[in-house]
Amino acid sequence: MKLPPGPKASSGLLRQFESDPLNFMDTMGDRYGDIFTIMAGSTPLVIVSNPQGIKQIFTSAKEITASGKLNQGGAPLVGNNGLLMLDGLRHKHRRQLLMPPLHGNRVQAYGQRICQVAEKVMNELAIAQPFYAYPTMQKITLEVILQALFGLYEGERYEQFRRLLSNLLSFARSRWLGLSLSYPFLRKDLGRWSPWGYWLHLQRQFDKLLYTEIEERRAQADPSRADVLSELLFACDETGQPMTNQDIRDIFPSLLFGGQDASATAITWALYWIHRLPAVRERLLEELDSLGENPDPMSISALPYLSAVCNEALRIYPTQVVTFPRLVESPIEVMGYELSPGTVTRGCIYLTHQREDLYPEPKQFKPERFLERQYSPYEFLPFGGGARRCPGEALALFEMKLVLATILCRYQLVLADEKRVEKPKARGVNYPPASGLKMILLEVSSHKGRSQQLVTSST
Ligand code: HEM
Repeated sequence: MKLPPGPKASSGLLRQFESDPLNFMDTMGDRYGDIFTIMAGSTPLVIVSNPQGIKQIFTSAKEITASGKLNQGGAPLVGNNGLLMLDGLRHKHRRQLLMPPLHGNRVQAYGQRICQVAEKVMNELAIAQPFYAYPTMQKITLEVILQALFGLYEGERYEQFRRLLSNLLSFARSRWLGLSLSYPFLRKDLGRWSPWGYWLHLQRQFDKLLYTEIEERRAQADPSRADVLSELLFACDETGQPMTNQDIRDIFPSLLFGGQDASATAITWALYWIHRLPAVRERLLEELDSLGENPDPMSISALPYLSAVCNEALRIYPTQVVTFPRLVESPIEVMGYELSPGTVTRGCIYLTHQREDLYPEPKQFKPERFLERQYSPYEFLPFGGGARRCPGEALALFEMKLVLATILCRYQLVLADEKRVEKPKARGVNYPPASGLKMILLEVSSHKGRSQQLVTSST
């Protein structure tokens, strides 16, 4: 078997990828082209950034599978039965259960709430004081995900979940947890004051809270609720048996870890580009203005230029550089190379989005390209594809547009340092701006167009 070309195996390769993945991918792409091999130990990892090859990875379900085994490294984070660890029938079934509450009318029903959450969080900022956009967007996306997953937006239970998940998600991004995930010998429960002990403590608290919520909702079913938890309470598993509390619990960590940070990363990048390029901001404001006072969320979400700006933000710096890994199960030819069973392959979202033939001047932020051309799902793939395509895509795009529209219409922001060129930096699997994006809130208007200085205290 002849593998696609690639650099000589060395321990430094992985470090290069981890420390500056975009630069690493740019270098590999320039040197080897659309398909190359990186040796990770004795296992070849084939990276593909050609739409034809990506299509094969996503659609050759018999030869290439979304094997859960390949994601085992994430098990201490999302559990052994998280969506990422599953494959085959069970994986397909769990994803089907998630589709109704994360799509269509059910997501659209959160529109007003998303705008309100964005306002609530933005109103906590002080006028003329710098703030970091990334953690601010994380606050917004945490509240939105609490609503979508558990239907909670106020009250004591909501506060308990919000506080706990905020701790859990920020500890999950910490260096301590990163080290423990890389070095299993560090995973020792030495009590709450040790990193691993603290992580287990947070998880136990999460389980306790979630199981209490599940029990209470089972006892008092409310068919009018549209959230993910309500959908799962009376669902059956792939064998037709009612889902146990543990089955239900296991679904949530992947959704929380998959969803909150990716959305915050995407919105932060969009804020960066919009405020870096005045012409983009102007055109967006004009488009939003055309909807009149208090537009409804569905009209906002249908705006073509706003959609193009979101797509371009997701293209130029996708939140994930590569898709989750896929496993070659039986021999398959991909772009002239015969891949044998055991080979691992990943679509490179970043390099595909940087192709000159698809995106002329790929390093430039040009939303118009999405108005002028339709891209196939193998050319534009910020949410991956195939068996593991992001189940939160509809919610994420709707949220992104509504949060941006709310911020643009009501809050006049500027970049704290207009000359600073932001670069992505890994935080878990996502790549937000390395600095966290410092911005300043100049003005808040009570209505679109009419500005008034609202001085609120910073938190
Ligand atoms: C702008 C926001 C988001 C982006 C760019 C994004 C991107 C992605 C990507 C690239 C993948 C990997 C797909 C593959 O390997 O083919 C993925 C998977 C996933 N995403 Fe998202 N995501 C976002 C928001 C969300 C949200 C809001 C949720 C939850 C409600 C979510 C939950 C997940 C889960 C659970 C998976 C794993 C799916 C599986 O294993 O079957 N994501 N996402």
